Amino acid sequence: MVELDGEKIVVTAALPYANGEIHLGGFASTYLPADVFARFCKLRGADLVYVCATDDFGTPIMVEAEKEGKSPREYVEFWNKRDKEDLEAFEIRYDLFYKTSSEENVKFAQYFFKRLQENGFIYKRSVLQPYCEKDKKYLPDRYVRGDCPFCGAKDQYSDGCERCGRTFEPGEVLNPHCAICGGVPVTRESEHYYFRLSAFSGKLEDWLKGNKNLQAEVKNYVLKWISDGLKDWDITRDIPWGVPIPVEGANASLYLWFDNHLCYISTALKVLSQRSVDGKEFWNGAKIFHFIGKDIVYHHYLFLPAMRLGVGEYKLPDYIPTRGHLMLHGRKFSKSRKWYISLREFLESFPPDYLRYYLCAITPCSQSDVNFDWDDFQSRINNELVATIGNFVHRTLTFIDSKFGGTVPHPAVLGPEDKEFESSILGAAERVGGKLREVEIDRALKAVLDFAGSCNQYFQKKKPWADAESAKSCLYLSVNAVAALAILLEPFLPNSAEALWRQLNLPSSVHEARWEEASRFVVEPGHKIRKPEILFRKVEDGEIRRQKEKLLKALPSGET
Ligand code: MF3
Ligand code: ZN
Repeated sequence: MVELDGEKIVVTAALPYANGEIHLGGFASTYLPADVFARFCKLRGADLVYVCATDDFGTPIMVEAEKEGKSPREYVEFWNKRDKEDLEAFEIRYDLFYKTSSEENVKFAQYFFKRLQENGFIYKRSVLQPYCEKDKKYLPDRYVRGDCPFCGAKDQYSDGCERCGRTFEPGEVLNPHCAICGGVPVTRESEHYYFRLSAFSGKLEDWLKGNKNLQAEVKNYVLKWISDGLKDWDITRDIPWGVPIPVEGANASLYLWFDNHLCYISTALKVLSQRSVDGKEFWNGAKIFHFIGKDIVYHHYLFLPAMRLGVGEYKLPDYIPTRGHLMLHGRKFSKSRKWYISLREFLESFPPDYLRYYLCAITPCSQSDVNFDWDDFQSRINNELVATIGNFVHRTLTFIDSKFGGTVPHPAVLGPEDKEFESSILGAAERVGGKLREVEIDRALKAVLDFAGSCNQYFQKKKPWADAESAKSCLYLSVNAVAALAILLEPFLPNSAEALWRQLNLPSSVHEARWEEASRFVVEPGHKIRKPEILFRKVEDGEIRRQKEKLLKALPSGET
């Protein structure tokens, strides 16, 4: 396996909008895979920068803040704190969880604008915009409501219909009215800046075709968008809540999709400057990973690289791991219809590692959709986590505790089965790590599970309870397999791995361990372990019944 020792790596997770709880879907597609991967990089000794932030600007956030009678700044501050807490409850901790409205990012976005302008990639154009004469405001996107031109649904936003799901252009909505005062908007001319995305078609195509790490399925449809022709991109919004356009006399803002992805870089630069490292040099010498969900492919495979190409100072991503949507029992999540599970709600019933385990296990390395199902959750936790991994760990540790007084025995001469098991332990880090290196998280977890399964088989075959002499080798090897499991599980289940490390009475913390130590037999004969405790408890039928009942209440009567 390629050594990561000292390799520079930047891991980012798509920025959550600062206007509501982090969605379980985003958790599954983005925050969790990024975290598993970042933890793995750290154990492998990489020089890692791991960042995220809230996406603070834009019209919807302004509208929500206004509704709550808060300033946009107060409003996004609340959600920034809240998101950070929710993520940390699941052991997701960044080097910095920052904000797109930070001074650093605002300056950085303005710098990008100026450089793009100097390089000839930005031009000005006059466009017609709805304007409210009473509020004396332009009304972008969500400031206009009206009836859906397709299905007639009343009171929809001007960019799409929540009933029929179709999107439309501003100006198409019927009976438009101002979302603030309800008055009828007029149309006024406004000066907007455009980014010449079309100028990058050839370069983007070369980059996409040349980058072998990008998912082929995604690449293919992005290439199709390019061959269909890219449109230049309106990067201005007539609202005060955004990065001020750095041009004399301009009194509008940059569109949030101009500045938000730049926050990956500006936040990384801040972390690096705190480490007294030259940020630009680090960035350009690093492997860059941007974890996203499939709904923001357009932005990450086209706008983001084009803007970086246009400035030419910061390298493009090497990997853009792109995952699908999460469904709940076969239906789309919907907060308003209560077809929904929040991260906080989950924690009222189960430990955080249970969600991490289940979502890692069911989310493939592709953009296909994934289904959260409570019965499947129960069976995976009970059959895999409890009956396979937990069982092996527990029987090994309790055997050492009860038959050897908690002291790891000296192995006797190893027989053929022992030798085979020994080599399986030696190869486990490689089998799992090879998959993690390619961000194949579900397959990597499956490799851990298979390893634990083979450990159980070995234990079962050796019957240490029947023969005191061969028990010694068996338990010596098994306890080292348990230590290996603790390390291999750390990226997936950080809390449980640490609890296991403590039961093994190993020094420091599993988070400080090295991935290669999983094949190093770190538990020596004569070592004393702590009193074993059950690591994973079963999920009872009654618990699942209650979860499903909660959901069923949300369904319109008659449906099941
Ligand atoms: N806030 C956006 C969303 O939730 C994602 C922004 S990711 C960024 O769709 F990188 F582009 F910032
Ligand atoms: Zn409609």
